[in-house]
Amino acid sequence: MIIAHRGAKGMAPENTLTAFRLGLTQGCEGIELDIHLTADEEIVVCHDMTLDRTTNGKGLIVEKSLSEIKTFDAGHWFDEEFKGETVPTLDEVFDLVPDNIMINVEVKYAYEGRIERKLVEFLRRRNRLSNVIVSSFDHKCVRRIKQMESEAKIGLLYQTALLDPTAYARSFDVEVYSLHPYFQMLDSEDVLKATESGLYVYPYTANEVKDLLKLTDFGVTGIITDFPGKLKALLQDRES
Ligand code: G3P
Ligand code: MG
Repeated sequence: MIIAHRGAKGMAPENTLTAFRLGLTQGCEGIELDIHLTADEEIVVCHDMTLDRTTNGKGLIVEKSLSEIKTFDAGHWFDEEFKGETVPTLDEVFDLVPDNIMINVEVKYAYEGRIERKLVEFLRRRNRLSNVIVSSFDHKCVRRIKQMESEAKIGLLYQTALLDPTAYARSFDVEVYSLHPYFQMLDSEDVLKATESGLYVYPYTANEVKDLLKLTDFGVTGIITDFPGKLKALLQDRES
């Protein structure tokens, strides 16, 4: 599965509607995005806790209302051509992305559990639990989400080389759906063990041809990449 990281992040401003649209045009089968909570408890799509790097605003997202956040430009920093983009709400992204495309929602920060409740309510309202994976580096956070909503699919993000990722995932008292390792920390044995145990494996974020090919050979379920079009072309080349 080709998963567009923060949209087609390599070619458009990350986590904007344009980046997600471009990912879809390039043939992705899933999109990955990051979420935060606003002061008025809306869920918005942005990587950092602050607006500073990816918009012309400043400060913590959680200290600003959605209407204030919407006044900032989220495209110009990347290139003038993207001027006018705004920080999207999770609703706006879900409106854009067809039901057959997997959405990987990464929870960046738990906001004392508030974002978990909001997200579960949101996924129920959108009737989209079956084709969404909620992942986080905060494994207690995704565990709480699974405890709240048994239909939720949860994924474990990790950046270090765990001794036995499958055993770790299977040690949870709730069902873990997928592993999301940093791609450099993954080996073929990890993938084999995980998939044999019924876990899905989605490494992030691979962009170089040699890495994309290596991960494909490992038999991962999907690859999170900034360049979904490149991965698509590579897979098509291999088939022909
Ligand atoms: O979900 C995969 C990847 O996005 C995790 O790292 O920093 O790009 O959100 P980051
Ligand atoms: Mg992410």
